[in-house]
Amino acid sequence: MKKKQSILKIIVQVAMIFGLIVSFTATTMAAGNVKRGKRKYNEYCTPCHGKNGEGDGTRMMVEKFDPPPRNHTDGNYMNRRTDVLLFKTIKEGGKSQNFSHIMPQWKHILNDKQIWDVLAYVRSLAKNPEWTGTPLPPDPKAKPKQ
Ligand code: HEC
Repeated sequence: MKKKQSILKIIVQVAMIFGLIVSFTATTMAAGNVKRGKRKYNEYCTPCHGKNGEGDGTRMMVEKFDPPPRNHTDGNYMNRRTDVLLFKTIKEGGKSQNFSHIMPQWKHILNDKQIWDVLAYVRSLAKNPEWTGTPLPPDPKAKPKQ
């Protein structure tokens, strides 16, 4: 009888932890709206990052930025970056994270909610979006970071 109770206790605890994890991922994933983010991305980001996010926008073609705008489809790189780091780069600009100052800060144009929307869209561009923490083979299309 006692043994049965302790097994039940373990099951309840496991279920509670599992529930916490599920609700946590649900809230972090629901943070931004992909559709709204796409609209902003097409308005502000594609000139540099390209219409498919591959880092080959029209401004890049003309101005030849070095380093080039990040390839947002490179899941091998992008999926290793945390939401907080990407959010900061978008909000405060590349320079704030020791990246190129060419990556502008958007805090005067986009509010936090809009940045989360854009980030949700950026996340949806990365190939291998299911990355679970195990290193992936390099994306052959990714341009090397200089
Ligand atoms: C004037 C060109 C330009 C525009 C416009 C631009 N970016 Fe960038 N972005 C860059 C460059 C260049 C880099 C690479 C910086 C580096 O590697 O040092 C970059 C890097 C990034 C990164 C990578 C950050 C990381 O942690 O590696 C993200 C995310 C990003 N940009 C998002 C955006 C979003 C979202 C927008 C639109 C709201 C945007 N960028 C608009 C030029 C631009």
